[in-house]
Amino acid sequence: MSQLEWTSAAGGPLTGTILVPGDKSVSHRAIMLAALAEGVSRVDGFLEGEDTRATAAAFAGMGVHIETPSASRRIVHGVGLHGLRAPAAPIDCGNAGTGMRLLAGLLAGQRFESVLVGDASLSRRPMRRVIDPLALMGARIDAEPGGLPPLRIHGGRALRGMRHALPVASAQVKSALLLAGLYADGQTEVREVHPTRDYSERMLAAFGWPIAFGEGWARLSGGHRLRATDVRVPADFSSAAFFLVAASLMPGSDLVLSAVGLNPRRTGLLTALRLMGADIVERDRREQGGEPVADLHVRHAPLRGIDLPPDLVPDMIDEFPALFVAAAAARGITRISGAAELRVKESDRLAAMARGLEALGVAVTEHPDGADIEGGPIGAGRVDSRGDHRIAMSFAVAGLIAAGPVRIADCANVATSFPGFLELANGCGFALSAQAAAQR
Ligand code: S3P
Repeated sequence: MSQLEWTSAAGGPLTGTILVPGDKSVSHRAIMLAALAEGVSRVDGFLEGEDTRATAAAFAGMGVHIETPSASRRIVHGVGLHGLRAPAAPIDCGNAGTGMRLLAGLLAGQRFESVLVGDASLSRRPMRRVIDPLALMGARIDAEPGGLPPLRIHGGRALRGMRHALPVASAQVKSALLLAGLYADGQTEVREVHPTRDYSERMLAAFGWPIAFGEGWARLSGGHRLRATDVRVPADFSSAAFFLVAASLMPGSDLVLSAVGLNPRRTGLLTALRLMGADIVERDRREQGGEPVADLHVRHAPLRGIDLPPDLVPDMIDEFPALFVAAAAARGITRISGAAELRVKESDRLAAMARGLEALGVAVTEHPDGADIEGGPIGAGRVDSRGDHRIAMSFAVAGLIAAGPVRIADCANVATSFPGFLELANGCGFALSAQAAAQR
């Protein structure tokens, strides 16, 4: 057995203009709502990642005809709210927590039974957070001990709308409940401890479903219809994040990232990097498919450590691996707290980043809900991405500015969110190579 290993070596300054792939969260939701809508929807800028393709395959397996006229495009022939057919086999969500959790809500409202499975990482991720509130609505979902996948969803149950107060800030849980709410009797309302990304709410409205929502809350009733609409997916801020950090750290860099989605619930890293001294300018702010986008112009600037305001955490929940690298190269100490959720992502990201940076000679003190990172020189070494796409890409950034090559184990899962990362990165100044390595 071999696995994919990367080597990231010192590169040139990052220059030019690049377009990163489409937003993962938006791509998942676009397929789901288009599948349940009446009529034909076009999705442009669809992320050709393994996660989002798994979601498209799930609906194809439930009788939805989805055409791929060209890369990053889908034409979805919606079957209506009650038009899905029972899948012939378990639905494989791959690596995608978003796919599994949103599907759990949506499938709870179907007349048929379904089973959701995932890869090794997804099979370790907590599902009680969706199972329990869905059960309160009348759903029956069986899981493995500890609330782990696979999930067996017993359809054919009448769902009741209700008011949920969510204990964790999670757009996935919120979205699962809203999707179940489409099938429920009466009103479903979700209240959040901290507002999270509102793509489900915005997209439900775009597909014609009556929904009221604001900062930290959303409310809808069952019994309406979704009408087909076209979706234009913005470039994924989370994919742009690696380049924002890399260009900030690499002397001489002057890079433009085109048409990046700037939903305010996603851009906490921009605020954090600016607090650290980064030089990132938004150009040509505009609206694309109902979402704010802008071109981001980033130039090298010396960064300094900060105490990360805990309020920013939910708005940058996927960007911590990149922030760890920025912190490692900044002057002084960066303190992160209130981020325990990072332990239940595709990997335990606090541990993965702490161990990886330590292997490169950086001093990190890990806490239950964060870490203190002491900026300083980054050395050569070998790190383990733990099969986590964002850990792998973050250490590719570390290699760019390290004293010697950084070897990164287990990088194949980068394809879940950012197919073509290596080529795009090398095209603007990285020196990344991939090789098959014997599995250890
Ligand atoms: C997502 C929500 C977040 C995020 C994930 C995508 C979404 O997860 O980390 O990458 O699309 O709703 P949580 O809801 O677990 O915070």
